[in-house]
Amino acid sequence: MGKVKKAIIPAAGMGTRFLPATKAMPKEMLPIVDRPTIEYVVEEAIESGIEDIIIVTGKGKRAIEDHFDNNFELEENLIKKGKFNLLEKINKSANVEIHYIRQKEAKGLGHAVWCARKFIGNDPFAVLLGDDIVQAEKPCLKQLMEQYDETQSSVIGVQQVPEEETYRYGIIDPKTIEGRRYQVSNFVEKPKQGTAPSNLAIMGRYILTPEIFDFLDKQETGAGGEIQLTDAIQKLNELQKVYAYDFEGKRYDVGEKLGFIRTTVEFALNNEEMGDQVLEMLKEIVLGKEVVKE
Ligand code: UTP
Repeated sequence: MGKVKKAIIPAAGMGTRFLPATKAMPKEMLPIVDRPTIEYVVEEAIESGIEDIIIVTGKGKRAIEDHFDNNFELEENLIKKGKFNLLEKINKSANVEIHYIRQKEAKGLGHAVWCARKFIGNDPFAVLLGDDIVQAEKPCLKQLMEQYDETQSSVIGVQQVPEEETYRYGIIDPKTIEGRRYQVSNFVEKPKQGTAPSNLAIMGRYILTPEIFDFLDKQETGAGGEIQLTDAIQKLNELQKVYAYDFEGKRYDVGEKLGFIRTTVEFALNNEEMGDQVLEMLKEIVLGKEVVKE
């Protein structure tokens, strides 16, 4: 069925967990140190060999389009000031085509992916959630693309989560195991506490065959009253094999507050220019707090 060259990045959600910050600012634009979350996601797609990206946006998301647009005034200004390192930083996503489509109403992830169906046509494609960052030696999406090349089947990125957190995720019921790759017998979106078939959770990275659109066309609302991508994948799995791949790397959920703060702190600590200073600052804050407690 050929190579995976196109990717969908859904970024049209309401970001209610970050209100009021997300009233006028997309959560995918919240910065981790000095780069918006979605830029890390776009970079992963480029590094994996994706040639065309479609970002699904919605109301109040114009900042995303502006971010990836050329900003000649800013570039001129940086050239004038000789700030070439900054110029390089703002042009990082120049070697990929980025397209946009609007999801008129945030009806769920499945619906957001469906909105991009005409752009995808009859090709296999990738989905990367706009609020999930994965740091890995080999980009997470590339790992999944390699699995696709071997199996010519849909491959869903998963990782283990603690048992008590399974209710927050799409969970797989693994059938057979081949190294890090599983064949899946069932997909369950947000299982009730104590009912999850495993602790392998879907982590915002997918390779899907175009037949998924046949199911998204008819998909009814599921968990949380939203059109769920996981429900359509479950139906696809009845038609053709769907694999899950336990990818190597660390996944950061930037879409919820604690995850966002953790990501910011970790990335700041690992930052070459300011890591040491950040560590000192954190020590100061924590020690200062202890003094106050006493
Ligand atoms: P989330 O469920 O994390 O995003 O979806 P959300 O709905 O914006 O968050 P809360 O729950 O209100 O805080 C994961 C990704 O899918 C996109 C989101 O923008 C996010 O990047 N998404 C979600 C859509 O594009 N459309 C939707 O209808 C829902």
